Amino acid sequence: MSDLYRLAELYDLAFAYRDYGVECDFLEAAYARHRGATPASFLELAAGPARHALEMARRGRRAIGIDRSPQMRAHALGLAAEQGLSLEYVEADLVEFSLDSKVDLAALMLNSAAYLHDNDAFASHLDRVADHLTEDGIYVLEMNHPRDVIGSDPAAESHWTATEGELKLEVTWGEPEDRLDPLTLIADLTVSLAWSVGDRSSLHIGRSRERRFLANEVLALVAASGRFEVLARYGALDADVPFDDDPRAWRMVVVLGKRAL
Ligand SMILES: C[S@@+](CC[C@H](N)C(=O)[O-])C[C@H]1O[C@@H](n2cnc3c(N)ncnc32)[C@H](O)[C@@H]1O
Repeated sequence: MSDLYRLAELYDLAFAYRDYGVECDFLEAAYARHRGATPASFLELAAGPARHALEMARRGRRAIGIDRSPQMRAHALGLAAEQGLSLEYVEADLVEFSLDSKVDLAALMLNSAAYLHDNDAFASHLDRVADHLTEDGIYVLEMNHPRDVIGSDPAAESHWTATEGELKLEVTWGEPEDRLDPLTLIADLTVSLAWSVGDRSSLHIGRSRERRFLANEVLALVAASGRFEVLARYGALDADVPFDDDPRAWRMVVVLGKRAL
């Protein structure tokens, strides 16, 4: 993992363009659509600042985050304390974690599946998640659209600016010369975070080793695991956007339902 995720506060600002309330509405609606109920508990995998878990806690759900970065854990627990929210946060790996309870709904947001670098890691991860879901549990993965892997017209932006008060942060996630290995679909992305406040500035350049996934690969990996069925796929965290090659579809959102063993 890049030391990038040590910079928890800058990371948090870099991705603050998202509407966590709307994203959590989507997650809960997916659960309601397939299970006819509201989830009582939520697990955010690769949680980072755990903004989704915090939003779920605000809604009265039992909320848990898992991430292997101690800096992310400290940052998220600090946010929970500031906001008076109850958040459990376990420092652990996506591939081999263990909790003492099960949850109704789990999610892996913002393409964090990219850190499952090979098929064995993906299979172990699905096993671990299934073990921690209640009988009718649902698992939602928000992944990059395959157009970001093949095709000349990427779906997601790789350069953007975030601001907070006087702080300006320029984010670049991947450079044109970063090579995608055609066999493993892994790329070592160059990530730069350049911030400035008035006349003070700093540039941090790190690496993010990420695997890309094609749509059929994900279906095959899920089928091979035997632990889940694919309930739905969407092109965004929006149930009105189908998973297709229309420009509105810019993500590959996969909704999995736990299978009985
Ligand atoms: C792209 S961030 C996503 C954070 C958050 N879920 C969000 O939506 O903003 C990816 C997170 O995955 C964590 N991570 C990367 N590899 C991991 C692994 N093998 N096990 C656990 N966490 C991992 C990083 O520390 C980082 O916080």
